[in-house]
Amino acid sequence: MRHITQSSKLAGVRYDVRGPILQEAERLERAGETILKLNIGNPAPFGFEAPPEIVEELRRALPEAQGYSDSRGVLPAREAVARHYTELGVGAASGGISPDDVYLGNGVSELISLVLQALVSPGDEILVPAPDYPLWTAQVTLTGGRAVHYPCDESNGWMPDLEAIEALITPRTTGIVLINPNNPTGTVYSAELVRGFAALAERHGLVLLADEIYDRILYDGVVHEHAALHVSETLCLTFSGLSKAQRVAGYRSGWLVVSGDRAIAHDFLEGLTLLANMRMCANVPAQYAIPVALGREAAAGGASIDALCAPGGRLLEQRNAAHRLLSEIPGVSCVLPGGAMYLFPRLDPAIYPIDDDQRFVIGLLRATRVLVTNGRGFNLPTPDHLRFVSLPEVPVLTEAIGRIAGYLETVRVG
Ligand SMILES: Cc1ncc(COP(=O)(O)O)c(C=O)c1O
Repeated sequence: MRHITQSSKLAGVRYDVRGPILQEAERLERAGETILKLNIGNPAPFGFEAPPEIVEELRRALPEAQGYSDSRGVLPAREAVARHYTELGVGAASGGISPDDVYLGNGVSELISLVLQALVSPGDEILVPAPDYPLWTAQVTLTGGRAVHYPCDESNGWMPDLEAIEALITPRTTGIVLINPNNPTGTVYSAELVRGFAALAERHGLVLLADEIYDRILYDGVVHEHAALHVSETLCLTFSGLSKAQRVAGYRSGWLVVSGDRAIAHDFLEGLTLLANMRMCANVPAQYAIPVALGREAAAGGASIDALCAPGGRLLEQRNAAHRLLSEIPGVSCVLPGGAMYLFPRLDPAIYPIDDDQRFVIGLLRATRVLVTNGRGFNLPTPDHLRFVSLPEVPVLTEAIGRIAGYLETVRVG
C-alpha cells in the first residue's frame, strides 16, 4: 500500500508552540485533568474582553460583508490603516502612505506567509532573531529559504548587536526580521537600535520586515519606535493587527503596510498582489473592525489597552507578579519585559541540567498540570529557557508558578 506522506517542503518546518507539548496537554485534558495553560498569547480565554465597539461594528457589518472584497481588503479599512501610519509620520520622507500600500490579511500570520512566499527564492537567506516568534523561521524554511538567526543578548536585556548581525550578511541575504516588542522576550528596542536596524537594511539593500503586533502593549513608560519611520532607501514592511491590543485574535484581522522605496520593489509587489489575489481576500467582516479599532482609543473605561498596561491595570500587575514569582525561585532569572505579554526566564544549567527542554516541559506538565513552552521552540540554541504568558489573573499565575517552583525543587542538583 502506498503511504501518504507529507511534502518534502515541510522538512525542518517546526511550530512547537502548538506541537507535541500541547498534544500531551490535550491528552491529559481528555483524561479529565484540568491544565493551567500559560502557553499561548490568546487574550480572550483569560477574560480579556474586546472593546465593545469592535464587536458591535463586526455585527453591524455582517450584512454588507457577504461578498469577497478587493484582495488587499475593503477600502475604508485600508484608508484607516494608511491614515494611522501617516499620522505616526511613516512615509513622510518617501512619498506618503496610501491605501494602495496596505494589504489586509487573516491575521499577521497569513501576511507573513504571503510576504515570504513572494520574497524568498530557494537558497535566499533571511535574518531572524533568536529567540524569535517561530512562525518567522518556519515560514522562511517553508519557502526553501534559510533562516539565519542573529543572537539577542540576554545579559543586555535581550538586545541584538548590530555588528554581529552585519557579520551574518551574505550575497544571499534578502531581508531582516525585527520583532519589536519581542515575543518571547518582551523586550522593547530603543529608538537608537531601531534606527540602527533601518540603517543596516538600507546599507545592504535588505527588506526590513518589522513585526510590530505588540506596539501598543508597553509598560513603565517605555516608548515604541516604528521601524518604518527610518526607512526611505529600501523597502520596509510593517505587520500589525487586532489580535493582541484589541484582544480579538479569533477575528483573524491584520495588516501589512508597505513603505520606503517602493519604486525598487515593483516586481516583488506584483508577486505579493498575485498571492493575495490567489486567496481571494481576508475574512471581510473582521476587516470592518479595523477603522473602529484605529479610530479613537477603542474601549470603554478601564478596559482600554493603555489602562490595562498602566499601574493597577491587569496586564501590568500580572507581568509584575509573574516576574516576581519567577525571580524568587532559586536558579531562575528573568529579564523584566518592557512590553508584550510574555516572560522568558532562564533556568541556570548548573542547577537545572536540562538536555532536552521539550522532554523537560512534558515532565513538568505531567507533574504539575501547568503548560508552558520550551525555549528551543523559539529557536533559542540552548535548552535552558521557558516561555510563560502573563495573561492569567494573579491568583492563577501564583498557583501555576508555585507548582512549577515545587517541581523545580525536586529536579534541582547541588
Ligand atoms: C510576534 C508575533 N507576530 C505575529 C503573531 C500572529 O498574530 P496574528 O494573530 O495576527 O496572526 C503573533 C502571535 O502570537 C506574534 O507573537
